[in-house]
Amino acid sequence: MLSENPNRKKRSEINIRQMEIDDISGVYHLGEDLFTSEEFPILYRTWDAYEVTDYFTSDPDYCLVAESEGRVVGFILATTIEKEGTAWKKYGYLSWIGVAEDYQRTGLALRLYKRLEEKFRKDGVRMVIADTEADNQEAISFFKEMGFALSAKHVWLGKTLTRPVKSNAKPPSTSLPVGSFGTEDVRGEEKASSARDS
Ligand SMILES: CC(C)(COP(=O)(O)OP(=O)(O)OC[C@H]1O[C@@H](n2cnc3c(N)ncnc32)[C@H](O)[C@@H]1OP(=O)(O)O)[C@@H](O)C(=O)NCCC(=O)NCCS
Repeated sequence: MLSENPNRKKRSEINIRQMEIDDISGVYHLGEDLFTSEEFPILYRTWDAYEVTDYFTSDPDYCLVAESEGRVVGFILATTIEKEGTAWKKYGYLSWIGVAEDYQRTGLALRLYKRLEEKFRKDGVRMVIADTEADNQEAISFFKEMGFALSAKHVWLGKTLTRPVKSNAKPPSTSLPVGSFGTEDVRGEEKASSARDS
């Protein structure tokens, strides 16, 4: 006999519904587990409580949760963007989607996404956009499965802005981590500015 996937919960046990004020904490904590800084060290947008409250207060219609036994086990935070003079005029933007690890690969994100897409469609959205880190393979596979195409590659660059070093100040005792984002540039800039100043 085939053993049952322990992750697979009965569909009827999981309720997908619009997010409510009491879900804010559950969504925030689930996001904290999923969007960890070790995994996404240079995430250009950071997961924090304001992400949740901002989307919830401005666009509650596009904030959905999946609930199982009173616990938030999945969510979507999304919004719409209207841009006159562009091809599609009204865009849906899926900003965050997450499913608790013990519920992943059970079709839950798919159910959340389909519900969101239905709402977008009713509201006149003709193009949905989403973004993720280039190395987030699970998310890319998921979005492709939902019909998204990788239409453009966008490269984010980062540079750490250091404070000017006072001429009589002792050099810092810790060195910048080699290979960290922007380190080479910063050092180059400091050398260039001390050459200019001398
Ligand atoms: C991406 C994520 C939301 C997918 O949630 P999920 O509920 O596991 O996805 P589903 O079960 O609905 O998957 C639907 C399909 O997407 C694809 N998919 C989903 N997760 C995948 C993975 N880890 N590897 C490969 N394909 C995957 C599969 O085709 C899957 O269908 P299948 O299971 O029948 O093969 C989940 O992995 C997650 O929360 N990741 C961490 C947060 C994150 O990175 N969010 C995206 C950026 S905001």
